[in-house]
Amino acid sequence: MTSLFQRRLRATVKHDNFRKKLSTVAFVFIGFCAFWAIGFTDFLFEVDFKDFEWPPYVDVREQVVLQMLGDRPSYIYQNDWLDYTTIMEPTCAFNRLTRRKSLLIIVKSAPHRLQNRDAIRATWGKMKQFGNFRIRTIFVMGKMSTKESETYGNVLEAEHKQFSDLLIGNFIDGYRNNTFKVCRLNYAWSQSIL
Ligand SMILES: *[C@@H]1O[C@H](CO)[C@@H](O)[C@H](O)[C@H]1NC(C)=O
Repeated sequence: MTSLFQRRLRATVKHDNFRKKLSTVAFVFIGFCAFWAIGFTDFLFEVDFKDFEWPPYVDVREQVVLQMLGDRPSYIYQNDWLDYTTIMEPTCAFNRLTRRKSLLIIVKSAPHRLQNRDAIRATWGKMKQFGNFRIRTIFVMGKMSTKESETYGNVLEAEHKQFSDLLIGNFIDGYRNNTFKVCRLNYAWSQSIL
């Protein structure tokens, strides 16, 4: 009788020890997950921004914080596309795209390339539908320089009136502003010309 009781007692103690260990492990695990979820582990193991430095050697952390707070960067980059808005946008007059089964073709162009644009409009740019897919082709560019607009006048406005397929940024179209054109993709997307 006694021995049976003792054995049971020992088993219970063992069981309790096991449960204690298990709960400790679970506690540590949950704690770790919590730290991970709130980003504390990232903070502990983060690598200094200095390790990723490249010209123009700005304080990256400061810029990231500003960005996260929704503020402007304190350093103005060469290609700070936030500086520029659009002066002409394509409209949906001819072919409204839907979120599904649509293809938006964005052609990087330049103000004086009217003939090239017309060639595209007359050939593959004509296609508005392929199978179930709606297709739309737009041209993205900067505005004319003062000299160019003196020479050509308001031709872009007329072109836009006719085709509604120009996306023109408020920056002078030049080689070094090329990046802006690509950034306009983002604009096209966010403004849902789709
Ligand atoms: C880029 O656009 C800006 C703003 O219009 C202009 O001041 C600058 O001259 C342009 N750069 C080039 C290379 O055209």
